[in-house]
Amino acid sequence: MADIGVDIQKAKAILASGELVGLPTETVYGLAGNGFDEDAVAKIFEVKNRPNFDPLILHASSVDRVEGFVTHIPAQLKLLADAFWPGPLTLLLPRKSNVPELVTSGLDTVAVRIPSHPLTRALLASLDFPLAAPSANPFGYISPTLASHVNDQLGEKITYVLDGGQCDVGLESTIVGLEAEEITIFRLGGLDIASIEQVVGAVKVMAHSSSNPKAPGQLKSHYAPSKPFVIGNIDELVATYREKGEKFAILTYQKDFPEVPDSNKVILSPGGDLREAAKKLFAGMRILDSVDVSVILAELLPEEGLGRAINDRLKRASVKN
Ligand code: TXA
Ligand code: MG
Repeated sequence: MADIGVDIQKAKAILASGELVGLPTETVYGLAGNGFDEDAVAKIFEVKNRPNFDPLILHASSVDRVEGFVTHIPAQLKLLADAFWPGPLTLLLPRKSNVPELVTSGLDTVAVRIPSHPLTRALLASLDFPLAAPSANPFGYISPTLASHVNDQLGEKITYVLDGGQCDVGLESTIVGLEAEEITIFRLGGLDIASIEQVVGAVKVMAHSSSNPKAPGQLKSHYAPSKPFVIGNIDELVATYREKGEKFAILTYQKDFPEVPDSNKVILSPGGDLREAAKKLFAGMRILDSVDVSVILAELLPEEGLGRAINDRLKRASVKN
């Protein structure tokens, strides 16, 4: 298993030697390596078992640093950077040639983010290279929101995880870029659309497609538990599975089913707070994936604010590979 701790110097030394560390961000934990080092980047793909056509996000500590590897920041996107960095926003920006092809899968834009988690910001500020960091889960599985999640799944393949506690947002960053000059959301995430539209006006939201995705975060089957994950009307689902006599777990927004044992249920936010629900979502899915049931039953949340991004993850979790 990897060591877990808060030693920034240790993380720095591992990264500088071309190896990988798990680290916290406010969205989810990342699996980080030197983003300017092709070999380190190749290791990221290998450890995650991620296909090479799925490009990575480069993380930096400041806009100055970002300017070291993008040609410019288009004015509309700069408004978003000014408003939301550091934070759960990733921008697709024109890359300079110092960004390895493997990071961008050959695209001419690079995905960039300034995360707000203080440990990781301090680490980034101490490095003279950006960190390439996808979520620290095996490709296709649920993203990690605790250091122990990273250790559970990748602990045999890396030596150190920086422990920043539970991720505050709990959903991956919102990915925004330009398509034909229009501001476009490529992945729904921890920054909601209304906040973005307050700054730049109406934006386009890409419907995700499973064929030839521009952002493979758009691959439909993703973020998936290993058990069958069924979404629908939760009352009807519970009644049906009870009738069938099948062992099930439930993931609900607010509603409790007192007859279902506590170990087999996650109520995301009894008080109906979408932020709280987002924060608890992935850890809840992991817990239910590990209990002794044959299926997880879930319901969609209100399709508003962060509810849209949460529903996006729930729907993808329910798609069979
Ligand atoms: O919150 C997050 O974004 C987390 C933390 C660790 O920062 N990272 C994360 O990375 O979710 P990952 O690799 O799991 O998701 C990155 C997504 C992928 O779906 C990838 O296809 C998309 O970003 N992406 C990266 N570069 C892109 C580009 N140039 N154009 C379009 N999509 C891109
Ligand atoms: Mg991911």
